Amino acid sequence: MKKISLLLIIIAFTACQKKESTTKHEVVKDSHSFSNPAEAVAKHLDLDIKVDFNTQTISGKASWQIENISKGNEIIFDENTLNITKVTLGDEEKETKFELGKEVEFHGKPLHITIEPNTTKVNIYYYTTKESIALQWLKPEQTADKKKPFVFSQGESIWSRTWIPCQDSPGIRFTYNAKVTVPKDLMAVMSAVNPQEKNDTGIYTFKQEKAIPSYLMAIAVGDIEFKPIDNRTGVYAEHTVIDKAKWEFGELGKMVNAAEKLFGPYQWGRYDVIVLPPSFPYGGMENPNLTFLTPTVLAGDRSLTSLLAHELGHSWSGNLVTNATWDDIWLNEGFTTYVEHRIGEEVFGVKEAKMQDVLSRKTLKNNLDEIGNDSPDSRLKVETKGRNPDDCLSEIPYEKGYAFLQTIEAVVGRKKFDEFLTNYFKAHAFQSITTEYFVAYFNKNLINGDKTLANKINLDDWVYKPGIPSNIITPVSEDFNSIDNIQKTWRKTGVKGLSQKIKSTNEKQHFIDYLPKDLTTEEITAIDKEFNFINGGNFVVRRQWFIKTIQNQYKDAYPAIEEFLTSYSRTGSLLPLYKEMIKTPEGKAWAKQIYAKAKAGYHATTVQAVEPLLK
Ligand code: BES
Ligand code: ZN
Repeated sequence: MKKISLLLIIIAFTACQKKESTTKHEVVKDSHSFSNPAEAVAKHLDLDIKVDFNTQTISGKASWQIENISKGNEIIFDENTLNITKVTLGDEEKETKFELGKEVEFHGKPLHITIEPNTTKVNIYYYTTKESIALQWLKPEQTADKKKPFVFSQGESIWSRTWIPCQDSPGIRFTYNAKVTVPKDLMAVMSAVNPQEKNDTGIYTFKQEKAIPSYLMAIAVGDIEFKPIDNRTGVYAEHTVIDKAKWEFGELGKMVNAAEKLFGPYQWGRYDVIVLPPSFPYGGMENPNLTFLTPTVLAGDRSLTSLLAHELGHSWSGNLVTNATWDDIWLNEGFTTYVEHRIGEEVFGVKEAKMQDVLSRKTLKNNLDEIGNDSPDSRLKVETKGRNPDDCLSEIPYEKGYAFLQTIEAVVGRKKFDEFLTNYFKAHAFQSITTEYFVAYFNKNLINGDKTLANKINLDDWVYKPGIPSNIITPVSEDFNSIDNIQKTWRKTGVKGLSQKIKSTNEKQHFIDYLPKDLTTEEITAIDKEFNFINGGNFVVRRQWFIKTIQNQYKDAYPAIEEFLTSYSRTGSLLPLYKEMIKTPEGKAWAKQIYAKAKAGYHATTVQAVEPLLK
């Protein structure tokens, strides 16, 4: 009997898996969400919240329109660190039973709500707590203007449930309206159609009419202003930053046009960006209609705006077509890295693009050296079950994903691949898909039974195996070749005048990355004198230079490194420095000292990432 039921389970399971790979609307089991979308699924959110800086809480009501597919009597939401005070059903707000399940580390708890077969609306009353990871509450001194407090959210990957009770899976999409009450001297913006000026009621309303996954729910509240760049793009920032930001991102409209030319219409209406205070933990976050950005991109010379191309690219890969689970993140970041490079080529030209390509490969190589060529995390399709998806994130989905798509492009030709991508985005707009579904779609629409083509691409190895298949392309940049030549001679000829030959951020990064390991103090001093990297470099150049100076224990850079590590919370840029520091006992002690000072200003996700290193 036992054997038979086991067999039945296996058959049902494989049948399910097969279906999953060919049907697009299928609800896929996401191990990071407790929700039960196959039985009851949330479709639309009406959010009515108050943002209170005195208590540092968001409180209010999340009214979910639901579809009770199975006509059963339960819907399950995700929540983490919230206080749920009451749940009611329908417009008549009839109180109903709810129960929190067992807490699981990182995941929070399932919120079981009793519903009726014909329930279409569930109203959840709640407030956030100090532990809500998604929200960072900033004191005035942590902002650019230093006058008013600020709060922003970061939902990706599984943190939206710490500020809104939701079915927190990238495979579930919903539309939303929101009414947000904030202190009268502040303004609220969200991942939606946004206000362009402050009003005197402190009440702001939002509409997101496109169905989005929960990790793209976002809010920022502060003393912010808006300035247009053109009639479709613009920038939000604090007063002291707004003009700088408007200038820095002056090419935003051009980028949107370039992306549309390549991959089809921009489907979201406006595209604006907001520059957040320095504790924003990422370079950028592609919240729909309003990309959230680190202020570290404000270099003053537009030298770091390729990051915008990346976040904008997500308006196709990621926000239109989304990874159904966190195991499929490469569908999101790998495709976006490809789109980013293509936008970059259009806007900044082929020479820049070639340099970016070479840097990409170097990043991939470094990352593989770090995690190991045989690490399961070096597969494109990863297994993140039971882990914090943020911890599983490496350069692999980005750079191996990019290298894979470049390989396909090289094999089938750019024209055909562009057509494929444009159709792929269009066919799956506002849907979430798995890797298996993508593979099936790819085989049907691009391979089409052509075995030679399939062999040339070798998708299985790229997607399901660790390491890098041998058909990877090695990009070449002539500009970098000249720098490689300089690298061979400068130790004899000296560094004077080199800053006239090595000028752009990409060139400087390449030069720094390939400096010899055994640099003498005199050499480092001479290089820094020639280029003024420590004080004059942009954020990326300084980061790369600091890695070198830590490796070579160049003490003159230490105060600047300390300032760098305590001023920003851009995790991806801080980690390489910390990782380099902890390689020696003195370095580790120094890192701990700096971290102790910096921690209070760090974002919760930065703390999660840095702290384990220093144990
Ligand atoms: N969506 C990501 C940020 C992210 C990924 C947040 C996973 C949480 C979990 C964003 O698009 C991104 O990739 N940002 C990069 C910059 C980009 C230019 C590579 C970053 O912040 O480093
Ligand atoms: Zn991204």
